[in-house]
Amino acid sequence: MDEQEEVKVKNPWHRPVLIFLTVFIILGIVIMVSISVVQNKPLPKKYKYGIVLDAGSSHTSVFIYEWPAEKENNTGMVRQIHTCNVKGKGISSYNANPDGAGKSLQECMVEAKQKIPAYRHSETPVYLGATAGMRLLKMEDETASEKVLASVEHSLKTYPFSYQGARIISGQEEGAFGWITVNYLNQNLNKPTGTLGALDLGGASTQITFIPQQEIESGDNSIDFRLYGNDYHLYTHSFLCYGKDQALKLSLSKKLVSAHAASKTDPIEVRDPCFHPGYNFTRTVQSIFDTPCMKAVNISSGIISHVGFGDWSQCQQSIRKVFNTSRCAYSKCSFNEVFQPSVYGKFGVSLDKFEWLVANQN
Ligand SMILES: *[C@@H]1O[C@H](CO)[C@@H](O)[C@H](O)[C@H]1NC(C)=O
Ligand SMILES: *[C@@H]1O[C@H](CO)[C@@H](O)[C@H](O)[C@H]1NC(C)=O
Ligand SMILES: *[C@@H]1O[C@H](CO)[C@@H](O)[C@H](O)[C@H]1NC(C)=O
Ligand SMILES: *[C@@H]1O[C@H](CO)[C@@H](O)[C@H](O)[C@H]1NC(C)=O
Repeated sequence: MDEQEEVKVKNPWHRPVLIFLTVFIILGIVIMVSISVVQNKPLPKKYKYGIVLDAGSSHTSVFIYEWPAEKENNTGMVRQIHTCNVKGKGISSYNANPDGAGKSLQECMVEAKQKIPAYRHSETPVYLGATAGMRLLKMEDETASEKVLASVEHSLKTYPFSYQGARIISGQEEGAFGWITVNYLNQNLNKPTGTLGALDLGGASTQITFIPQQEIESGDNSIDFRLYGNDYHLYTHSFLCYGKDQALKLSLSKKLVSAHAASKTDPIEVRDPCFHPGYNFTRTVQSIFDTPCMKAVNISSGIISHVGFGDWSQCQQSIRKVFNTSRCAYSKCSFNEVFQPSVYGKFGVSLDKFEWLVANQN
């Protein structure tokens, strides 16, 4: 009997209970600590990042984008979180010093490294797209344009991001990107109706892009793509040399030729109705003709005084001279024999460094 009692007392039923209680209490503590940690420091939202360098003729901008790593409703909501303007001129201005093109990007790329969490660096794509400034340099001096691109490539590869390429984009791509930008900003892309046309006035080229109401008669002027499940068929044209800096040179060259014929003063005075009275800027003839947009002319003096006199109607007349509308091989043209269907609908406008604005057609 003693033995039986011993067994009963030593019956280890209470040991699992003790173990269970201990585990339960420890688990409880762990859960409570975890909850308080999570409440004090909310779980970070998971984002992914991308870097785009827009290498324009007059300047380069570095844009950083972010989007949720888990795509919401299967549509990536992309947000621009940071812009950095590269100091100095566009990369095409480094034609005589290509190494400088890569170096010029340094400050903004270091900023990008700081803005993007380090654990995302290696999977963050970085692209550079160059536009008309580089298209002109390539026409003028292909070797120099290749050296400039090699220099920015070398520079971009020194950062911990995923380098995807640096290239000169085509005029059609540039037109399409402008159109997508203005319609993305206006949130038109998820609905079937009411897209805006895009007018993009750059430094060396200008783009016009819209959905036409008639057939596109010239193959070079159409671009097709699919976006958010919709198919788009766009008219687009990029006018090389009709960005504001190159168009000014075109206009000045015409005034210079007639001023040179009329006067024998040195420096040659070029009177310009499009600049305000009191404007007097010394330019070299070379700085006007240093572009493949014009054939050089034989002008004796190397220096001109560019003098403004502010006359709106004369300015309008002088600007018309840079547009040649004398011939058209299609049913309709804008100018310089370029096919353009009738413009239709509202347009968004981008003026070089300025943001996209929405304008009425008239
Ligand atoms: C995703 O869908 C839900 C429900 O349809 C909606 O409330 C939410 O706003 C959508 N999110 C985005 C980013 O569109
Ligand atoms: C413009 O500046 C140049 C050089 O300083 C001078 O010779 C010329 O007289 C000026 N012209 C006018 C209209 O002020
Ligand atoms: C430019 O014109 C000058 C005389 O006005 C002439 O001597 C010279 O040969 C010309 N140069 C060219 C490249 O036509
Ligand atoms: C306009 O272009 C035509 C050829 O398309 C050319 O013959 C004519 O000289 C040009 N006119 C002007 C003012 O440049």
